[in-house]
Amino acid sequence: MPAEMPPTRPGLPDDASLPADRLPPSDAGPAPLLRRLESWHGRRVWLIGASDGIGRDLARLLAAEGARVAISARRADDLAALAAELGPDARALALDATDQAALDAAAASLLADWGGVDHVIYAAGVYWPMGADDLDIEKAATMIEVNLIGALRVAAVAIPVLARGTRPQLALVASASAYRGLPRAIGYGASKAGVLNLAETLAIELAPRGIDVRVINPGFVRTRLTDMNSFRMPAMIDAATAARAISDGLKSRRFHIHFPKRFTLFLVLARALPSRWWLALAARPVKG
Ligand SMILES: NC(=O)c1ccc[n+]([C@@H]2O[C@H](COP(=O)([O-])OP(=O)(O)OC[C@H]3O[C@@H](n4cnc5c(N)ncnc54)[C@H](OP(=O)(O)O)[C@@H]3O)[C@@H](O)[C@H]2O)c1
Repeated sequence: MPAEMPPTRPGLPDDASLPADRLPPSDAGPAPLLRRLESWHGRRVWLIGASDGIGRDLARLLAAEGARVAISARRADDLAALAAELGPDARALALDATDQAALDAAAASLLADWGGVDHVIYAAGVYWPMGADDLDIEKAATMIEVNLIGALRVAAVAIPVLARGTRPQLALVASASAYRGLPRAIGYGASKAGVLNLAETLAIELAPRGIDVRVINPGFVRTRLTDMNSFRMPAMIDAATAARAISDGLKSRRFHIHFPKRFTLFLVLARALPSRWWLALAARPVKG
């Protein structure tokens, strides 16, 4: 390939190629970062990780508020059932977020149908609680692959489709475990710390293109992921409450969306603690 030609993503139109600096500039002028959104009505949303848990409740909420929602995850049957529930505007695009070709094909299909996408939300994730005594390298690597590399793959695919969107926004779901090292979070915590860092870099990089980037750090939410935990989980909320907090956060001007605050504020502030203090504090068992 000649040096001046950007590598074209298969299935996407020529001007949807990477690197992003070859894309047409946003017509928004100097980027107003962190725009407020009045309503989801008519917004074109691609939500990845929507067959279960937080993503499923978020898809329901956004569709109920008038968004056109495309949902992705691996389980095609569950996605099809959810799309039928969401109504005729919903689209189900089954894919594995570790499969770049599948992500490219889904993005191309959305561009063909919708002409552009206004929101891409990456809520897919996997989790196995794991400490030093039961460290499983395959599972730990899968958490990095799906949670962090998956977010990176989705961001790469999202940039050209969002460039054709209206007041576009990219949101990545990380976790409250992203802030500091926690017990039983080998692999998962590292993957989510990576997502938090990635989102900050993307926010800087994509602002000049008019793409508004957000990161979402939930505390404990009752889903099949937290069903695996045997330890006490303070301030646990249900997935519908989490979906409402995410919707409110994405409509606000906050980059860093975290909830429930009665739990996450402690961890946000703990980022400022000297490491020696944090390591001593985190090693203490959680009181019931
Ligand atoms: N629950 C919590 O307490 C909590 C706290 C902080 C952060 N989070 C994060 O919030 C997000 C949602 O978690 P959740 O608790 O709602 O979990 P969940 O109920 O297990 O939902 C995870 C979603 O991700 C999809 N997914 C998993 N692997 C995928 C892959 N390789 N490709 C495409 N989709 C994939 C799953 O669908 P398929 O199985 O059909 O692919 C499912 O739709 C995750 O990023 C999680 O790390 C959760």
